[in-house]
Amino acid sequence: MKELHAVIFDLDGVITDTAEYHYLAWKALAEELGISFDREFNEQLKGISRMESLEKILIKGGKENEFTYEEKEKLATQKNEHYKTLIKRITPNDLLPGIEAFLQEIKAANIKIGLASASKNAFSVIESLQVGNYFDTIVDAATVKNSKPDPEVFLKAADQLNVAYENCVGVEDAEAGVEAIKRAGMFAVGVGTKEAMAKADYIVNSTGELTLAKVKEKFLAAK
Ligand code: BG6
Ligand code: MG
Repeated sequence: MKELHAVIFDLDGVITDTAEYHYLAWKALAEELGISFDREFNEQLKGISRMESLEKILIKGGKENEFTYEEKEKLATQKNEHYKTLIKRITPNDLLPGIEAFLQEIKAANIKIGLASASKNAFSVIESLQVGNYFDTIVDAATVKNSKPDPEVFLKAADQLNVAYENCVGVEDAEAGVEAIKRAGMFAVGVGTKEAMAKADYIVNSTGELTLAKVKEKFLAAK
C-alpha cells in the first residue's frame, strides 16, 4: 500500500513567482538578438536549464549557428546577471499564495519536504524567501547531471529523504517538470492551466488551492 511520505516541490513558479523574472530576462535577451519572444513560447523554457533555454531561443530565431560556445556562454551569463538583479528584490512577501500554510500543514503531518529545482540560483532564492527550514533536502541544478524532463532531480531528492518514489508527490508548474515527476514514478500535482498541465495527476489553477487533505485524497485515489 502506498502512503504519502514526502512532497517534493519545484521552486520557480511554485514556491515563488520567479518564473516571471526568468521570462522577463529571457525576453530582454531574445529581443536584443532580434528574436521575437512571447509567453506561449516561454512555456517551453519552464523547468529546463539555462543553456538549453538559450539554445531553444536561438533555434526559434534561426540563429543557432551564429555563435561560438564562448559567445553562447556570455549570452547565458548576461541573462543570468539580469535575472539576479530582478531576484534581489525578493522578500518573504513573495511566497506564492497558500504556500507557507501548505508547507506548515505538511510539516505538522510529519511528511518530509524536498525541493527539486533546475536553477543554479535556488539556494539564494530560498534564502531570500526565508523558508529554508521547511525543507528536509534541497537538490538544485549544480548537483544533477540531467535536467528536467529527466527525472534525476526528483529521484535524488527522494533518495536523500529516504522515501520510496511511489510514496512521493511532486509539485510543478512546468510541462518538463510534470514529465520528470511522472518518469520518477511519483504522483504529479500541476499548478497551471489544464492545457499546460495535461499530464499531471491533479491540477490546480493556483497555489492557493493546495491543501494537504485534497492532495492526499487525490494521491490515495490514484492507481
Ligand atoms: C528552472 C526555471 O527552475 O530553472 C527555468 O523553470 C530556468 O526557467 C532554470 O531556466 C535554470 O535557472 P538558472 O537560475 O540556473 O538560470
Ligand atoms: Mg517551475
